[in-house]
Amino acid sequence: MEIQRLDPTDADQVDRAWALLERVHRADTPELPRGPKRYFSDELAQPLPHAELRGHLAVDGEQALGYLRVYLPMKENAHYAEAEISVHPEHRRRGVGTALLEHLLETARTESRTEVVVVARATWKDGPVRSTAGPEFLEKHGFTAALTEVHRRLEVAAFDAATERRLRSEAEAASGDDYELVCWAGRTPERYLEQLGRIDSMIFDEIPLGDVDLRSREIDVDHVRARDDRDEGVGVTCLRAVAVHKGSGVMAANSALFALKDDTDAYQGITIVDPAHRGHRLGLLTKLANLRQLRERFGHVTAIWTGNADVNAHMVAVNERLGFEPVDALVSYKRT
Ligand SMILES: CC(C)(COP(=O)(O)OP(=O)(O)OC[C@H]1O[C@@H](n2cnc3c(N)ncnc32)[C@H](O)[C@@H]1OP(=O)(O)O)[C@@H](O)C(=O)NCCC(=O)NCCS
Repeated sequence: MEIQRLDPTDADQVDRAWALLERVHRADTPELPRGPKRYFSDELAQPLPHAELRGHLAVDGEQALGYLRVYLPMKENAHYAEAEISVHPEHRRRGVGTALLEHLLETARTESRTEVVVVARATWKDGPVRSTAGPEFLEKHGFTAALTEVHRRLEVAAFDAATERRLRSEAEAASGDDYELVCWAGRTPERYLEQLGRIDSMIFDEIPLGDVDLRSREIDVDHVRARDDRDEGVGVTCLRAVAVHKGSGVMAANSALFALKDDTDAYQGITIVDPAHRGHRLGLLTKLANLRQLRERFGHVTAIWTGNADVNAHMVAVNERLGFEPVDALVSYKRT
């Protein structure tokens, strides 16, 4: 067996990796979205700013046996590596997963990473039953559970006009006249670059991360521009809804929803309300605005996916009121 670094411009290699991941998806998580194939290679070629994304394929001759995906922050959080390991269902319990994990740990050593996180799916309440292979495999290799995120799905068609009206008037009443709601799709308007960077710099200080050691990042104007360039490059449209405090011009809330023209699923990004502006239903207000943008601009999207830490009670409550329903959990296992 050999482990090859995936070259996203090598169509044969990409085909083999994609076909392998299709088998794994069908066996383990058929309810989850996969995204378009072209996005799979595009994101390897163009990762987020200040980060690397590497794919590795375990092969035996022509047979693809397993896949390792590694995410490496290159500026802040350069102590951290995050990965996902997938082994062909017919080739499990033969050491392929262990070989890929060793490759990951070698990468961590070479790149001076002190914290390695590998993610595994788990059953959540009465959702579809997930195999315990991932958690057992990771525990056997000295990893411990550090954070549980619950993934929820909203069927766009199930979000009816009456619910929307009711929630919107509630959010508008609570936010009052102090905030201006601003929406856009795609690139950030010049006048909001700095304020968007300011509020997004708070993310790792504000979201529950369990025992995962992700530290503050400074997202400046150049970073916001680079993120927009990257989204354009990989064919992702970021639908953005923000609430600006009229008196000070400060961006008080920000919600992002990602859609692709060739995908019937859309993906909720961050929703963050500045701690100084909480309690005015700004999270609900911005999410509702993005749902409207999605329906107007991406009518082919049938479902939205979101993931929240199991302990993030406020965000989960907002999502449940919108009609999101839990599917499964994604557990971050860590080893230092
Ligand atoms: C988890 C996964 C990567 C393991 O790959 P693998 O190639 O079967 O793993 P290995 O053969 O190297 O297993 C090493 C050890 O892990 C443990 N392990 C692996 N699968 C297990 C299972 N189903 N139940 C209990 N223990 C298991 C065992 O201790 C095993 O050693 P043993 O076979 O000598 O008992 C594979 O099942 C998979 O792709 N699952 C779906 C994706 C996933 O859950 N990924 C997230 C976790 S990395």
